[in-house]
Amino acid sequence: MNFIHIPKTWELTENKVTSESVYFKRRRLLKNLVGFGIGAAIMPIIGCQQKTASEPALETSLNLPKIQTVPTDFTVSDRPITDEKLAGSYNNFYEFGGTKNIWLKAQNLPTKPWQVEVTGLVKSPRTYDVDDLKKQFPLEERIYRFRCVEAWSMVLPWIGFPMKSLIEAVEPTTDAKFVRFTSFYDPEITPGPGFHLGSLPWPYQESLRIEEMANELAFFAVGIYGHDLPKQHGAPIRMVIPWKYGFKGAKSIVKIEFLASQPETYWHTLVPNEYDFEANVNPSKPHPRWSQATEKFISKGPDLTWEIKETLPYNGYGEYVSSLYT
Ligand code: MTE
Repeated sequence: MNFIHIPKTWELTENKVTSESVYFKRRRLLKNLVGFGIGAAIMPIIGCQQKTASEPALETSLNLPKIQTVPTDFTVSDRPITDEKLAGSYNNFYEFGGTKNIWLKAQNLPTKPWQVEVTGLVKSPRTYDVDDLKKQFPLEERIYRFRCVEAWSMVLPWIGFPMKSLIEAVEPTTDAKFVRFTSFYDPEITPGPGFHLGSLPWPYQESLRIEEMANELAFFAVGIYGHDLPKQHGAPIRMVIPWKYGFKGAKSIVKIEFLASQPETYWHTLVPNEYDFEANVNPSKPHPRWSQATEKFISKGPDLTWEIKETLPYNGYGEYVSSLYT
């Protein structure tokens, strides 16, 4: 994409990035944990405290082929990009476990070959090989704020292409109003958090209104920090919706469906009163467990440290997306 550079409130000056996460129906989870004597297993999630992993295997998981990108102006000017190793070892990927340090388990994800089926109410349904997607659309680096509903935040340098490019390629019919994104799931490979006893509504699915998907900021990431996407970040292709809480961004996508009506989604199925469909970052709308007025910004490694900052409406992107919600 070519942009005329007009400084915007969300622009950043350097590469500084982070990630995000979510939870469970607390009562059910705690009940299960207490009931099965594994309460300690959830503490890293609840406390959001851990040291950055320093294992060589972490470096290996991040040492991936470089990606050439076309220049863009999507940046963040008021905070640094999050340390790569910190972002790559503080993840949410519940298919592989319920703690933040699932990066090692996520290495079991088989990513080659990888196909994405695009189907539903479109004139040109198609199954793409992800390598073809990477060739078909010019790849851009976009530095975006990343905000977790758990009230922590990062700044991450994603590489990918705007979702609207895919919309143009498959030509949705006028009946298409919603889009559902489905993540990879294979119980042999993705055991889940272990404490749910088979009760979670896999596969992980998220959804957007088609107008949200068509917004300039909505992005498919195939890379981060200058290279291919590591498995723990949702290789080989994931959603990045910077004005929404991170749980809206499904990882490791295998299917994209254009639909007439609003579909059910993973977290909303589990905890309807905590994970609404819209999930726009909003400092004045508290989550039942996190106020959302402020956020804990994660930037420097190697150890996990926070900087408390005020939460911005729409995560700082209101100028570009608020008209979607009038
Ligand atoms: N996608 C899948 N398939 N499974 C998940 O557990 N977690 C979501 C989102 N996408 C999740 C997912 C949540 S809660 C967050 S905060 C982000 O991924 C975390 O992305 P990151 O680990 O790359 O920072």
